[in-house]
Amino acid sequence: MLPIGKVVRIFARLLFTVIAILGVAPAQARDWNVIKNSGTIIAATEGGFYPFNFFDGSKLTGFEVELAEAIVKKLGLKIEWRVVPFDAQLAAIHQDRFDFAIASHAYTEERAKSVDFANPHYCTGGQIAAARGGPLSVAALNGKTVGVQLATSYYESAKKIGGVKEIKTYKTDSDAFSALRAHKVDAWISDKWVIRSTLEKNPGAGIVAGEQVFVEKISMILRKNNQALEDQLNRALAGTMKDGTYSALSQKYFKTDISCRN
Ligand code: ARG
Repeated sequence: MLPIGKVVRIFARLLFTVIAILGVAPAQARDWNVIKNSGTIIAATEGGFYPFNFFDGSKLTGFEVELAEAIVKKLGLKIEWRVVPFDAQLAAIHQDRFDFAIASHAYTEERAKSVDFANPHYCTGGQIAAARGGPLSVAALNGKTVGVQLATSYYESAKKIGGVKEIKTYKTDSDAFSALRAHKVDAWISDKWVIRSTLEKNPGAGIVAGEQVFVEKISMILRKNNQALEDQLNRALAGTMKDGTYSALSQKYFKTDISCRN
């Protein structure tokens, strides 16, 4: 006789295999009760979008990292971080590799087809940056090359600008900035706060900020049909705005309040 535990394990493995073969996701997005009972929420970010989420040496930090930690603390949970490339996050969320992602995702109708968005945690816009004397307006991009991070709203917006000669995509946003510095592209489109912080950090780069191209609202993303989790995240985010945590973090990173209240 096989011990019952072993039978259960064999059966579970068989079921898992059958499900995997059928191509059905083996697990559902963890719902709030499951997360709560486990005591730990799994959050994803990129770690390459200074100063929102980045590595300070080996330490993952940034405005969004600290904000998520404050939100999760309010939920009475521990946080476990997963570092996932930005262009892989939408797909990875469907593989249940994390409960939510906070990586400066703007709300777009296209993304909203596959994921849900929490309430916005900041309001911002895409902006052009280039070398002094380079193309700093939409009009000036005519015939020029633009560098953007892959899978971002900047790529989508760059495609809509008429006359751009070529859009070059980079795995990370800082790679796009490096390409601009190395004269591989004429301009870079990125987040206005990222540009401001990056230029402050690299005063000798000879790069300046230009025209703002569009506005967007940034939210945490989670799997669809996870209303209880979404409510909890929204409630805790509102809590950080009420008790001053949000303002303190925003002042620390941006010297101003970047919430959508302004
Ligand atoms: N806000 C832009 C978007 O929604 C860029 C986000 C990039 N995020 C990152 N972690 N690199 O597409």
